[in-house]
Amino acid sequence: MRRRLKKRIARYVAAERRVSSRILLYKLAAFAVIGVLAFAVPGQNQTRTDSAASMRLGLRLFKDARFSSPQGDLQNSCNSCHLLDEDPQGMRVHTDFFARSWVPFRATDPRREELRNSPTILDAGLMPRLHFDGEFSSLEELVKGTLAGRPMGWLSGEQDKAVEHVSTVILKDTGEGAKTDGSYADQFKNAYGANIATLRRNEVIDLAAKALSDYIRTQKTARTTPYDRFIQVNGLDAGPARGEDAKLFASRLLDKLVALEQKRALKMTTGFDAAALKGMKLFLASDGTGSAGNCVICHTPPLFTDLSFHNMGISQSEYDQVNGDGSFSELEIPGDGAAHRPSAQFRETPSKRKPGCADLGHWNFVDLKSSPLRRAGESDDRFLQRMIATFKTPTLRNLAFSQPYMHTGAFSTVESAIAELARLSQMARAGHVREGDDELARVRLTDTDIIQLTVFLQTLNEDLQQRK
Ligand code: HEC
Ligand code: HEC
Repeated sequence: MRRRLKKRIARYVAAERRVSSRILLYKLAAFAVIGVLAFAVPGQNQTRTDSAASMRLGLRLFKDARFSSPQGDLQNSCNSCHLLDEDPQGMRVHTDFFARSWVPFRATDPRREELRNSPTILDAGLMPRLHFDGEFSSLEELVKGTLAGRPMGWLSGEQDKAVEHVSTVILKDTGEGAKTDGSYADQFKNAYGANIATLRRNEVIDLAAKALSDYIRTQKTARTTPYDRFIQVNGLDAGPARGEDAKLFASRLLDKLVALEQKRALKMTTGFDAAALKGMKLFLASDGTGSAGNCVICHTPPLFTDLSFHNMGISQSEYDQVNGDGSFSELEIPGDGAAHRPSAQFRETPSKRKPGCADLGHWNFVDLKSSPLRRAGESDDRFLQRMIATFKTPTLRNLAFSQPYMHTGAFSTVESAIAELARLSQMARAGHVREGDDELARVRLTDTDIIQLTVFLQTLNEDLQQRK
């Protein structure tokens, strides 16, 4: 782009040499302004993108139930498991109501449930790695994997079939029932200036993945919750400064809260009261011998996730429930030399029918050489062991609209989810959580603390009606 602009300017200068220098200067200035605008307007410097049209296209693809395998018994769309407005059951943040989402049944892979609970997709556009286990490193990759994957009823090995099927649906679409936007061909033309009839099938899928990803990138959490207003009216920092770690940020924020309180200058806001403030202090506290939530270390504001992976003992607790106490600690897990990752055995829901099967999360996908989680001086093998049963930290925004909780979906209330973390933190201190995160052992909560934390987390729910 920049080179083309330069070339044009050079050609222009040559042709206009005889024109008076003042006019030339004006024209060059005008070129410069246009050039700067082209770089400043987001999305304008790639292909021709109409963001309103691409948003409508993305949403229509998101809700289209024709992409799933004709051999499955459910016609899933993305929207089947990532729901928004489910009147009369209420609003959802692009999640379903199941502990584990329902996938179409296939006789050769007779399962009904997904491996995990469906998470919110708000803010997913900001995540360097996606899915609880970090399988995907971009939205586009995730979308293509999903369109041709088990959520849509396709088996492994059926990828070509899926590409054929999905691209045919898109290419043959007539736009019936699509309101005023016309066919997919019209919509891709309007959104991206692309003529899909001239594209190869894989390129059609690539463009559909782009449209879906662009749509997801528009789906962000709103910073209008009682908590956000409390932060704003009191002039508090919304998150760590650049390069500051979460612990330092939390102690700075706690000091400021206490100072404002002593001056009687701390302002409460609608929906954020004294009980929420108590919960917030617990959330931020990580030191001392008394109660400490230590939550802020991993659920760091403003996103309420550090986007990283931790073992909180949730996989272990599910495995032990099925196979008996202490069984996860005895499960044989191969070291770096022998492990084939990702592993079908270790990406499975534990059950009596499948002895030895467990969900080891990020263990399956961590790149031992390039992962930022690797510690200095750690061997490949030790690092891989430490990644056992680590999962991506979920956001704590909008929990009112995403129950049940944890990757297993085993907890139907926020309170019960925190109570489980409190129980696991005691086990971790006793050394009974296999490869449990060091920070888990620093969580110290009483029953009253759990209630106060629950009250605080309620202040992180936004008014979803405004999204309709
Ligand atoms: C059968 C239910 C189901 C369908 C259909 C489905 N998803 Fe998901 N989605 C899930 C589950 C379950 C997860 C969590 C997967 C995991 O962590 O292993 C997930 C995860 C995601 C995430 C990652 C969120 C994060 O924080 O990492 C995104 C984004 C997403 N889905 C988008 C889509 C899109 C786009 C489609 C349609 C092409 C789709 N999903 C179809 C159930 C589904
Ligand atoms: C060491 C990092 C870490 C700390 C400390 C931590 N969490 Fe988490 N939290 C996680 C991870 C990782 C998960 C997902 C675990 C899983 O599903 O296996 C999670 C899950 C949750 C969930 C379920 C959310 C959902 O959408 O399913 C809640 C609620 C929660 N944490 C609250 C808290 C609270 C409250 C604290 C402080 C008392 C806390 N966490 C401390 C990392 C942490």
